[in-house]
Amino acid sequence: MAHDHPKAKPVSTDPACVGVIAEFQNSHDVLHAAQRVKDAGYTKWDVYSPFPLHGIDDIMQRPTVLPWNCAVGACVGLATAIILQWATNGFDYPIIVSGKEPFAFPASMPINFELTVLITAFTCFFSVILLSGLPRLYNPLLQNERFRQGVTDDKIVIAIDSTDAKFSRSKTADFLRSLHPSSVDEVMAVPEPTALPSGFALAAILLALFATVPPILIIRKRNTFVDVPRIHPVQDMDFQPKFKPQKVNEFFADKRTIRNPVTGTIARGDLETDVHYFEGLDSASTVAAIKNASFLDPAPNAAPVAPANPAAPAPAAPVDNTPYAKDFPPQVIDKLKVDGIKFVKRGQERFNIYCAACHGLEGAGDGLVARRATELEQPTWVKPLSIHDDGVVPQPVGKVFRTISHGIRKMPGYESQIMPEDRWAIIVYMKSLQRSRNASASDVPAAELEKLQATK
Ligand code: HEC
Repeated sequence: MAHDHPKAKPVSTDPACVGVIAEFQNSHDVLHAAQRVKDAGYTKWDVYSPFPLHGIDDIMQRPTVLPWNCAVGACVGLATAIILQWATNGFDYPIIVSGKEPFAFPASMPINFELTVLITAFTCFFSVILLSGLPRLYNPLLQNERFRQGVTDDKIVIAIDSTDAKFSRSKTADFLRSLHPSSVDEVMAVPEPTALPSGFALAAILLALFATVPPILIIRKRNTFVDVPRIHPVQDMDFQPKFKPQKVNEFFADKRTIRNPVTGTIARGDLETDVHYFEGLDSASTVAAIKNASFLDPAPNAAPVAPANPAAPAPAAPVDNTPYAKDFPPQVIDKLKVDGIKFVKRGQERFNIYCAACHGLEGAGDGLVARRATELEQPTWVKPLSIHDDGVVPQPVGKVFRTISHGIRKMPGYESQIMPEDRWAIIVYMKSLQRSRNASASDVPAAELEKLQATK
């Protein structure tokens, strides 16, 4: 129960008396008496009870600003939440999270709610403390022995304050006596002690000294070095018996920890049975020749160009019986139908990334690397072939695919860098590059041709 604490000087005739208290034995009597006190016109009075008294609130009807304080707190909390979220996410640094707008009201609701509740709770808590006149170490009523003992145990006390306008020491006491209390007492003012209790200063000094221990320990730890690992009471799975890659494993004959997959293991999704698409080979003849291992390319890196004497005739290339695919695989044709020029552009982009450095943007064999190597007169340098070379143009697409995949003589393979679809895209683009060298007017769409002729 809130208690009104006199701030002004007592107006009572006797300044030494701070109030009169009446002690009651049961709640029924108190409710009755409280009603009488109220009816008598007293305003500065209070009821002290060791337990909640049902019905006393209705009688006392103390006006309080607490709900208003809380309402203000709620508004401040809500406004802070909205402004904070809008200013940070929506205004100062707009950032899209989960496809929402930078400041989306529905998404801001959790914070709005939380902050509203938080600030309201704080306002309510501190309002109660302050409105109750707390913190307060001393209350004159506590000087009264009966009050101290009774109210903290099983008695209920009505106290009328001497600052009340109607207060008169004798009349008020008589009035209270008429309410049939078990006792009535006048409470005298006792000067509030000004000195701190003995030992307080000593305890404070000791506490202050003690408080310096944690910072000192932290500073010490931060400025000293230890060469043993710190104590690790909860080990979780930090130290487990296990083998790390590249470490010796005595269990196996070759002592390697990393094991190769069992021969013939194929990772999920890597079963590339379509030899046309993945190998650039003619499916039918591959199936026929599958038992004859010699069908594969005649040793791609077997015929090196003699570097010392470039003028010498190259050794005769072994006969190539590889069953190269002559046409594009159906997947590539489908892709061309669906994507059209996009697929060719993809090929162009990949060609410019992977091939143009050596072969040049037009495939003429004059890429930057080639030019620089020629400039430096590198003896081991083999000039990249022009893709418009008479030996290259008529090649079946399957052969080009295998050249890109596995490399040829001095040219490295790109199997690991370029996925099959892109390798095919590069070939499509190469074909259009080759065609462009020998194109005629009839290759140009009629509308485009007209435009070209008009600009001529
Ligand atoms: C590091 C430089 C370099 C790069 C990059 C390069 N090539 Fe080559 N390429 C060569 C050289 C060198 C030769 C000629 C090899 C020889 O004759 O020994 C060659 C030859 C070729 C040939 C002719 C093969 C034959 O049958 O004679 C083709 C086709 C070809 N490259 C296509 C490509 C494609 C497509 C790319 C891009 C994926 C590419 N190259 C990337 C250096 C390169």
